[in-house]
Amino acid sequence: MKNRFLREEFEKNIPGEIKKALAFCSKAADELGLPIFLIGGIVRDIIINKKNFDVDITVQGNAIEFAQSLQNKYPEIFKLKETHDSFKTAKVVFNIDGKCVDLDLASTRKESYPYPSGLPVVEKIGCELYEDVIRRDFSINSMALSLNKDSFYRLVDYLNGYDDLQEGVLEILHEKSFIDDPTRIIRGLKFSVRFGYKPGEKTQKLMRECLESGQFDNLAGERVKLELKQAFNLNRAECLARFINEKIYRLVDTGISALENIDEIAFDAQKTISEYSKFIQNNDNIWLIYLGTLLSGCIPEKINHIAQKLYLSGNEKSVLLYAQALCEKQGFLRNSKSRFEVYEFFEKAQIESIIVFLIKNKDLKDKVDLFLNGLKDIKISIDGNNLIQMGLKPGPLFSEVLREVLKARVNGEITSYEQEIELVKKFN
Ligand code: CTP
Repeated sequence: MKNRFLREEFEKNIPGEIKKALAFCSKAADELGLPIFLIGGIVRDIIINKKNFDVDITVQGNAIEFAQSLQNKYPEIFKLKETHDSFKTAKVVFNIDGKCVDLDLASTRKESYPYPSGLPVVEKIGCELYEDVIRRDFSINSMALSLNKDSFYRLVDYLNGYDDLQEGVLEILHEKSFIDDPTRIIRGLKFSVRFGYKPGEKTQKLMRECLESGQFDNLAGERVKLELKQAFNLNRAECLARFINEKIYRLVDTGISALENIDEIAFDAQKTISEYSKFIQNNDNIWLIYLGTLLSGCIPEKINHIAQKLYLSGNEKSVLLYAQALCEKQGFLRNSKSRFEVYEFFEKAQIESIIVFLIKNKDLKDKVDLFLNGLKDIKISIDGNNLIQMGLKPGPLFSEVLREVLKARVNGEITSYEQEIELVKKFN
């Protein structure tokens, strides 16, 4: 292993308060004689000059005991937030000059997978660093950076991660990696799209073999969801296109019918999401637009089945189902004559469902724009109290009257409070 020190990269890419927190960890670890490292994504990102504030630290020993010793040593500025006893990990936070610095502390661990796609079992805690890194996904994520004083900044790179990173290749670490954990295929897609890296030939072959094997019965849906979310939230057409073309969708459901013109649809999806981004309140939901686009031609039972498999929330499921329903009844919108018909078509839909609809029905853009830019925010000025004052008896008629007022407003037939009152008088 080549001796590399990442002093310059570390100093440049790690914010000051995190550096200070790491210096405290370093001091405490040295006193205990514990080897301690930055590990995984953060080391990768330091090398390629990307900001990453997910600070993962691994301790060659017991991370919970280490966290407790930090607690004793720095009671004023340190808090142990939570521990996970079976993995011996801890989430901790330092208060550095008034800023919270969150750190994830893990013990080095050796793992094995008793059956394909299942969860790993821990074989040993506090093992050699090599055994901890060999259990990981890609070589670019397998590097560690020493935080002990006598070797600070030293890169520990057993598996050629540094060179792979420079060459932009994704290599898994052993033949069974995808079989053990097929979610790594989606992770590979994410890293490939995010950084523009390419899976090496052997890695591609193993990926294809795993997808062909179909051995995903034990695969936990929530883990697939987590990775899908991260990949599609990149909002890159390439992700959806490759998800289908490389048959990665099989990890979600082998029965997803591959759309013929997927490259074009993926392109439209990225473009539409970017164009309508100001309407999307939560960028974390972008992935639902991609998934919705993929499933908008399925029957609701299929969507329900997939939602159940992926442990989608009620709201996430309704975005998908609503998008499908809008697409199915697109004829109504096509034939709509009044502004209120457009309003009614979209009124209950969430923005993500509307964007799926637009991706699949580009020719109806004018009507979607009319709704989003004009109709959706129209409100009426009167309410039930006005109706009571005007002598109407509370009952089902109330909502009918208020709906008629709304209709007239949306259609532009009335524009003021006074006109609303005049309209209500007709119902008296
Ligand atoms: N890891 C793995 N297999 C997985 C998930 C994670 O081997 N299925 C390992 C990788 O070494 C990864 C580390 O656990 O670097 C931390 O996982 P995560 O935080 O999800 O990954 P990051 O590499 O930090 O990715 P990102 O930048 O997207 O957060």
